[in-house]
Amino acid sequence: MKELGSLGNSPMRKVPTAVLISGRGSNMVSLVKASLHKDYPANISLVISNIPTAPGIAKARELGVMAMAINYKDFKNRLSFDMALDSVLRTAQIEMVCCAGFMRILTPEFTSKWQGKLLNIHPSLLPKYKGLNTHQKALDAGDKEHGCTVHYVTSELDSGEVILQRKISILNTDTAESLADRLLPIEQTIYPIALKKVLTETSR
Ligand code: GRF
Repeated sequence: MKELGSLGNSPMRKVPTAVLISGRGSNMVSLVKASLHKDYPANISLVISNIPTAPGIAKARELGVMAMAINYKDFKNRLSFDMALDSVLRTAQIEMVCCAGFMRILTPEFTSKWQGKLLNIHPSLLPKYKGLNTHQKALDAGDKEHGCTVHYVTSELDSGEVILQRKISILNTDTAESLADRLLPIEQTIYPIALKKVLTETSR
């Protein structure tokens, strides 16, 4: 009986999660802050940047998260970088990986190892506007709506199953910059919601 009682009171297991970044890391900060809540199902225990000068590295450390760079320039090709990344993630016992402004295309070798455990946030309403310059592409197309998407990462760029999307209206006065500015806080809102959804809805 005693054992059952202590089970009932035991804290929820948080899934060890890494965030991959290349720059300022505002989506990463939002994920870390969400993960600090006791009922959030992920623990962001590692941040990795492929660029050593990424401002997000210091931001992660300020929040008490271990952060490191794996400099892509130190590797002779994409696959050797990805295998080093995989090795670091496994050594750190990471079970879930969130790309957040991680500006690298991952190899099929890497994406297949992390299938179903690798997420990304993309600033468009996928399947529209894969790749870069999504805000300008939405403006050029005369779209009335734009948005952002959290999706699973597969070997095909920005093409994995959609987990969560949110829309904004495009105003006549919008520029690529104003769209990026209005979308960013929405990205920061939906990414923690999407990660929670994945961790609570999928059988892990
Ligand atoms: C975000 O707009 C994200 O959707 C895109 O790159 C930007 C990264 O911003 N892939 P941050 O580094 O999270 O601040």
